[in-house]
Amino acid sequence: MRISGITPSGHTHFGNHLGAIQRWVTDGGPDDLYFVSDLHAMTTTHNPGKLRGRTSEMLGILVAAGIPAERVFVQSDLSRELGALTWILECTCSYGEAARMIQFKEKGSGQPGVRLSLLTYPVLMAADILLQGAAEVPVGEDQNQHVELARALARRFNGTYGEVFTVPRPVLPPTGARVRDLSDPARKMSKSARDAAGVVFVLDEPDLIRRKVRRAVTDGLTGVEYAPEERPGVANLLEILAGCRGERPADVAAEFSSYGVLKEAVAEAVVETLRPIRERTLELLADPAELARIRKEGASRAAERGEHRLTSAMRLIGAGM
Ligand code: TYM
Repeated sequence: MRISGITPSGHTHFGNHLGAIQRWVTDGGPDDLYFVSDLHAMTTTHNPGKLRGRTSEMLGILVAAGIPAERVFVQSDLSRELGALTWILECTCSYGEAARMIQFKEKGSGQPGVRLSLLTYPVLMAADILLQGAAEVPVGEDQNQHVELARALARRFNGTYGEVFTVPRPVLPPTGARVRDLSDPARKMSKSARDAAGVVFVLDEPDLIRRKVRRAVTDGLTGVEYAPEERPGVANLLEILAGCRGERPADVAAEFSSYGVLKEAVAEAVVETLRPIRERTLELLADPAELARIRKEGASRAAERGEHRLTSAMRLIGAGM
């Protein structure tokens, strides 16, 4: 089975959709689990009210995008199980291994008051994966190193104490599935971007999406060609359009001769891809009782699924009754 998560540290954007959520919908099997990793959104300063709101929003988006309601849950609803397993895995992980994580080095180095959780969060992520016995973890490239850590910890625990955990492997998207910021194609599209002008959010209104795409940075060259190194802005637009259509960027490029027409096509493709998701999410958010029911059922199913691995791991380390 597969598991993957998304962190409500900001609003869900089109990169999350194309690089993750869309694949979770199309490649999903009957046992897969997808969750909102709300506890991961606390490794830097956070606002409790906003966190709660974004968690509901993301849960709604996952269901609205087409993941069956019985396969989604919220991470903090399993906080007891995950907290216990995280501790066991912290006792399986070396400090050096955690400190080597690229995201820790990028976000943590030189910052005052870095939270300890910024260092240990990949261990919580390993607990998310190992508790459920997932064999495959569909993530973007930026999460690959964390899944490799989960893999190393599963192997080490099994080798030291006894076989409990399935050794997971990352499943990466095909090349080009990294959506870039429309205003700054050198950066990936990100929830925490300082300026939202280059970030298309899943719940943006159609006209706002059109404006953001029209203002996307391109270059002063003429003709339309797929050349990611030399023409990153145009390549990003072609990758977005190709991703919406399930085609290849180079094939899509051949249809266009001007940036203006390309941008119109990209804008319409993104608007139409997101329209049903946006509408269904807004319906769900207007029905908190339905969202609460989905959340509750998901939590009990996921907790039940993982419980025996935690009990076995506890017993093997010489703890618990
Ligand atoms: P997060 O919330 O940063 O990202 C969720 C998923 O979206 C992918 N992604 C992108 N793909 C393409 N283009 C982009 N611009 C882009 N930005 C993000 C990410 O690679 C990811 O797959 N720590 C994780 C969540 C997590 C998790 C887990 C994942 C928690 N526990 C266990 C797998 C298994 C995170 O913060 O993802």
